[in-house]
Amino acid sequence: MSDLSDIDLTDASVWEQAAPHEWLDRLRTEDPVHWHEESDGRGFWAITRHEDVRRVSTSPLEFSSYRGGPTRLDPIDQGLDPDGGGLEQVRMIIIGMDPPEHRDFRGVVAKAFTPKMINRLNESLHTETARVVGELREGNSCEFVTDVAARIPMWSISELMGVPEADRHRLYELSHALIDDQDPEVAPTPETSSESLAEIFGYATEMAARERANPSGSLTSDLLQAEVNGRKLDDMEYTLFFMFLIVAGNETTRTASSHGLHTLIQHPEAMARLAADPSLVPGAVEEILRWEPPIHHFRRTATRDTVIGEQAIAEGDKVIMWYAGSNRDPAVFEDPHTFNIDRTPNPQQSFGIGEHFCLGANLARLSLRLLFTELVGTIENVELQAPPRRLHSNLINGIKEMRINYDVR
Ligand code: HEM
Repeated sequence: MSDLSDIDLTDASVWEQAAPHEWLDRLRTEDPVHWHEESDGRGFWAITRHEDVRRVSTSPLEFSSYRGGPTRLDPIDQGLDPDGGGLEQVRMIIIGMDPPEHRDFRGVVAKAFTPKMINRLNESLHTETARVVGELREGNSCEFVTDVAARIPMWSISELMGVPEADRHRLYELSHALIDDQDPEVAPTPETSSESLAEIFGYATEMAARERANPSGSLTSDLLQAEVNGRKLDDMEYTLFFMFLIVAGNETTRTASSHGLHTLIQHPEAMARLAADPSLVPGAVEEILRWEPPIHHFRRTATRDTVIGEQAIAEGDKVIMWYAGSNRDPAVFEDPHTFNIDRTPNPQQSFGIGEHFCLGANLARLSLRLLFTELVGTIENVELQAPPRRLHSNLINGIKEMRINYDVR
């Protein structure tokens, strides 16, 4: 058996095939807090146990999102801003903040995402989902990612943020090129992603001018009017917040939708049960999220010498939480490698946990429940035309293309 040091979780071409569960299982069993070298960085602790992800995510003062940003590569290398200053910009986005500042910023948008507010979208989101899925009745085949999965998340985040219909498609393309930039097909050159960034920045500025002249009551006008510690967000803070919400709202839910259908195609008995009894859909959505976490990992940096489990961690060390590992921890999930829509409880960690727990979780859950209820009621005998084409990325568990054949019910 190969040495653990042969495992390379940074290799996007591995994740492009599928999450490397054999590796993740070995790490969890043999060395759950594992020192992992990197060719493009200074190395990190790879975390694969459920309790360790919980420990790290719920201790934000010990494991900081601010110090080195929330993703594996140091922002200085990723360069959010093509002209430099990457880390400074990442620290202006809530996902790159620590308490107490983080709580103040989170408060600005948290009220837009409460179950009550999201439920207000229920009816219109239901209508939109039924419209998009209803178009499947016109044929017997489609490219599911573009024709269905991508459209609904962009619609809901645009509704929340007041983005006019005519601009939505372009904004969707930009968000895709920005976050999925490890894939040469999505972002062929380093400039693609910096040009997309510049265009989103420009768009956010235009939106601000429109909303200031004519406040629409959308989340964008909330951002512009909000005060944190007695002052308004400055232009860069507002712009980054706007951009982050567009990206976070789009990429993840699209991914969960595509993986969800793919997983159900591979588990036809589960799909048949959902069609017969749609009350099983919420459980199925949680299991889909556990089975294929839309985000492979997030990162923290230790602010002091500490421990995770038995392992000493030094101040400044990088810690990477691999959700595909923690979501299949046998200490928490019985038969973790079995897809089971009846699993209860299902404490999957795909939305993170603790301080930065996904703000969009209520919206994503509602969206996915509506989508799968509509889908199983509309189509059957769903088959892949070819294996789905997956995104080349160790951050986003994306599907780029999934052509299917089906019968209309
Ligand atoms: C299935 C869909 C989704 C998944 C799997 C997902 C996943 C995540 C995860 C893992 C985090 C935690 C980051 C960390 O611990 O560092 C997070 C944070 C966040 N997500 Fe989501 N997300 C989803 C959908 C959405 C949607 C639809 C929105 C917005 C409309 C959204 C907005 C956010 C925001 C604003 C944060 C940052 C929260 C904070 O830093 O306090 N997400 N998401």
